[in-house]
Amino acid sequence: MMREVTTHSAEETIAFGRTLAETLAPPKLVVLRGELGSGKTTLVKGIAEAFHAASEEDVTSPTFTLVHEYRSPRVNVYHIDLYRVDTQRELETLGLDDLIAENSVLLIEWGEKFPRFERERDVEIVLERVGESERRIRITGR
Ligand SMILES: Nc1ncnc2c1ncn2[C@@H]1O[C@H](COP(=O)(O)OP(=O)(O)OP(=O)(O)O)[C@@H](O)[C@H]1O
Ligand SMILES: [Mg+2]
Repeated sequence: MMREVTTHSAEETIAFGRTLAETLAPPKLVVLRGELGSGKTTLVKGIAEAFHAASEEDVTSPTFTLVHEYRSPRVNVYHIDLYRVDTQRELETLGLDDLIAENSVLLIEWGEKFPRFERERDVEIVLERVGESERRIRITGR
């Protein structure tokens, strides 16, 4: 699977996230790649909303807490930010293994820092800033 779109506003990226969620039926481990401000968290807003797990305003960057959990009756969405996580030991304290389950969708920003997630991911989403408000979004599965 390989899809590519270019969005022209944050709202458009959120809307794309809603559509994309249809292809992310749990269980899924998704790695979100892209530089700071490329739109990873913005995309998660649309995905979490589509699963009825959170409204877009409720989805904020897990910068300090590192893991945000959004639950709905059928799907638990975990939004994880590993930007500040550098060692294997720090990673282990997050207990991500306990989150992986039949009804879980893990959306991991900066997951590519750890080979483990490169191996285990089901989907990779790469966001690229191509202009002030243009973002190229590429999705690859395996
Ligand atoms: N087309 C677009 N898609 C997504 N975000 C956009 C777009 N155009 C402008 N933006 C803005 O870019 C910023 C993206 O921020 P966001 O927090 O989603 O990035 P991020 O990739 O999660 O960064 P970080 O690595 O710091 O967590 C927001 O301020 C958003 O409003
Ligand atoms: Mg982010």
